[in-house]
Amino acid sequence: MDIFDVIKTRRSIRKFKKEVPPEEVIKRCIETALYAPSAKNSQPWYFIIVKDKGKIKELSKAQPFTKFLEGAPYVIVALADEKKSNHWLEDMGCAIMALLLEAHSLGLGACWGAIYHPENRERENYVREVLDIPENLRIIACIGIGYPDEIPSPKKVKSLDEAIIKIV
Ligand SMILES: Cc1cc2nc3c(=O)[nH]c(=O)nc-3n(C[C@H](O)[C@H](O)[C@H](O)COP(=O)(O)O)c2cc1C
Repeated sequence: MDIFDVIKTRRSIRKFKKEVPPEEVIKRCIETALYAPSAKNSQPWYFIIVKDKGKIKELSKAQPFTKFLEGAPYVIVALADEKKSNHWLEDMGCAIMALLLEAHSLGLGACWGAIYHPENRERENYVREVLDIPENLRIIACIGIGYPDEIPSPKKVKSLDEAIIKIV
């Protein structure tokens, strides 16, 4: 698949096969994320790979929309050192997108489970306690990843005419 096809055919996957992908493949997705752009090339990202079923179950309870994590063979927790970048949140969006695209290109399925919340740190505090994550790291997302066990339909997106509001 060329990059355009990878981007166009990626969908969020929330159902996973029982078969566990090799750890190397999960690491490769993280390795790709390391090449994402970041403000001043600050690269504020860190990751935790969670494969312990008990811990995954605990993470799935972080908020109602992370329940799908329970069926994932791996959860990748995406973390940011907020002291390293004034734009750590945007930086993390770039990194996680790269990770999701690499996962899709390798035949894996993945979905972002939101942990960071702009108004409160409840979910972050919960995940911090589950995984004993140091205070200097903000917790952005718990990404469920594994072999896909669902085939979502192609996505309807805005037309180009709708998206480009002006050419000046
Ligand atoms: C910042 C962000 C937070 C998200 N949080 C969740 C979440 O907590 N739970 C979930 O099931 N999906 C979550 N998603 C996935 C979105 O629901 C999904 O990307 C969106 O519906 C578009 O579908 P697609 O990924 O298949 O293109 C999140 C996506 C983003 C970018």
